[in-house]
Formats: sequence, C-alpha cells, structure tokens
Amino acid sequence: MKKLKIADGIHMLTMNVEDILFEGIWEIANGVSLNSYIVQGEKTAIIDGVIGWDGIPETLYRDLEDIGVDPKNIDYLIVNHMEPDHSGWISNFRKIKDDFTVICTDKAAKIIASFYGEDKIRIVKEGDTLDLGKGKVLSFHPVPNVHWPDTMYTYERDTKTLFSCDMFGAFGRMEDHCFDDELTPEEIDFFESEGIRYYSNVMITFTPSLKKAIEKARQLEISTIAPGHGPVYRKNPQKIIDDYSRFSQYAEGSGKNEVTILWGSMYGMTKKAVDYVESILQREGIKYNKLQMPLESDSETVATVFKSAGIIIGAPTYEYKLFPPIAVALNEVGRKRITGKVAIRFGSYGWSGGAEKELAEIIERNNMKWDFVESVEFEGAPKDEDLVKVEEKVLEFIKKMREKVVE
Ligand code: FEO
Repeated sequence: MKKLKIADGIHMLTMNVEDILFEGIWEIANGVSLNSYIVQGEKTAIIDGVIGWDGIPETLYRDLEDIGVDPKNIDYLIVNHMEPDHSGWISNFRKIKDDFTVICTDKAAKIIASFYGEDKIRIVKEGDTLDLGKGKVLSFHPVPNVHWPDTMYTYERDTKTLFSCDMFGAFGRMEDHCFDDELTPEEIDFFESEGIRYYSNVMITFTPSLKKAIEKARQLEISTIAPGHGPVYRKNPQKIIDDYSRFSQYAEGSGKNEVTILWGSMYGMTKKAVDYVESILQREGIKYNKLQMPLESDSETVATVFKSAGIIIGAPTYEYKLFPPIAVALNEVGRKRITGKVAIRFGSYGWSGGAEKELAEIIERNNMKWDFVESVEFEGAPKDEDLVKVEEKVLEFIKKMREKVVE
C-alpha cells in the first residue's frame, strides 16, 4: 500500500491487485490499482475504500495513522460507487468505529443496505455539499450508470479535485509513479492501453451514460482528477477526459488507425487466406493485430476489437455454423455493445456452408450494426481466384476502415 499526498489535507492510499479475474470474468494481465482518498478538515472523510480480493490490507489502519488519520476519528465514509472493489471494507471498518456516516446516492443506499446491512446513511443529490471545515467543502454529483446506477462524483471545491471513482480509471498496476506528471512516455502509453482495456472490459456497456458523465466533468472547474483505479491527473486532467471521449467513439465504430484480424482455422485452409491478407496489409502499410481464437482471453479480445477501426474475420464453417470460437468471441463483443465497426469475413467450407448465416444472426441479435464488405467463401483450400477476390474485398475494406479512424 502506498500513501501519497495530493494536496494539503488530501491523501491517497493505493494498492495493486493482481492474479484475479476482475468481476469474476476478466483476466487482467497487468493487474489493477485500487485508490482511496482521505480528505481532512475539522472533520475527516474517506472517499471509497481500499480492499483486496482477499479482504482489507493488514496494514490499512496503520497506513491511515501514518498520514495522521486516527481511524476512530473518521466521520464520513463517502461511497461514490457501491461495487465491492470500492466499498468492501465497510463492514470491517464498522468493527473499528461504529458512529461514522455513509454518504451516497439513493440507489447506492439500497444496495449498501442489501450487501452490508448498513443503515447510518445520508443520501445526497446533485449539488448537495458537506463542509468538513478548514476550507474543505465536498459537493456531490450523481453520474448514474457510470458502471452501476448508483455512481456519483465527489468534488472538493478548495483544491478543485474531482474524485471520479470508476470514471477516468484504468487497469494496470502502478509502480513508483502515480501522478500524470511523473509518468514516463512508456508509462503514458501503458496507462492509455490499460485505460482502453478497462473501458472496453468494464465500462463500455454504459457508453451513453459515460458521455453524459464526460459532459458533467466538463462543467466543473477541475485541477485534479483522482480516479478509483489508475493514475491521478494533476498536470493535465483534460487528457483523460479527452481519452474517455475518444474511447466512447471507439465503442460506436471508430478506432485507432489499425485493424484486427480475428481468426481461427481447423486444418489450415482459412489460415492460407489469413496469411495472404497479412501480406496485403503489410504491403499497404496498415498496422494490424492478430487474435487467434480460441487462444486469446476475453479481456484481450474485447479490448483489441474495441480499439480497432476495422475487423477482419477469418473463420471457416464448422458443422453448418460459424467456427465456434469466433462465434463466442463475436457474441461477447456484441454483448459489450461494440457497434458500428467496418468488417469483412472470409473462410473455408467443406461439404456445406453455414458460417455466414450464423454470423448474420450474431450481428443482428446483438444489434451491432457492423458495416460488412461482401464476404468471400471458398471450398476447401483457397485457389488463386479466391485470393484475388479476397484481395479485392480487403482493399475495399481498407478504404472504408480509413474513414473510421479517430486518434
Ligand atoms: Fe471499480 Fe465499478 O468498480
């Protein structure tokens, strides 16, 4: 656990969590940090808590004392978002002190009561304030469905600090550098990439609400953004607001200037066409990612498809349907509401087609609205004339994909 001063009277506690499935689903290759903030006036408030997947850190209460906070003097526990990665320590904290007040939205109050049996709760609405004394005044700003329906921003007026919880967060463990002005160029790239993974794995389903939350943040005068996961932005908070704005566009079909080849092959026939497509992309100078299914994790697949301006699907027919690992991957991408991507499919069949029909069903069922260039199917191994057709369609795809690039 690290303890860092954000400003006079404001501290951050942060710890890394690794080797977990986030939400019980997402294999997060580079871990995640959990951030908690302590604001001290005459009264003391903690904004969100720090908790590992196996309980609260043993050192938590000692760490609080190290930054001059007697846990018994904490008056308010502000729950910006009830999900247990931020609130899971409430019950433990009750054993230390019994008279603190939980502050949260009405929707969070209901969930907190059901999860932890809490009833000492003050419900806040848009613009409500809490004066902690010594110039520290917190205001509360609900941002529903920034992940769960209960979420809110907490804003500290004196220092113009926005405690944004999941919003503006990123996966990725934090090592020595926790502030944006300390990050090396490599670390900036790392956290942008982990921000993409986080947004696409956890937040993307709520993109319409996230767009509203971006606008709400833009209406506040912000010097520092202090999220629940990932670095604190005190030099350039606008950067993470702009990043999130761009990510919301990726969710609706735009992407970086790169494509993803989502592919699988039973006996190497479809792979011959994949290899040929790679040579075309190299010749045309197109950056591409290759995801061979079923070898990639859901986390990596969703994140890579999400950030790409175009998707090339190389998948054969399997037992009258789409090659199952590709069907599973596309279904997950659809459940995450990654819509509007430019795409193309090619693939082999043996004695019968069927892949195209299931592909159309998946796109339709998930309301994905992907813009497909005409598919190319071939019997058995691709012949020269099949590869000519693949090239023609891939060039058409590249032209359309370039119109979707946002960087
Ligand atoms: Fe960081 Fe929605 O929990």
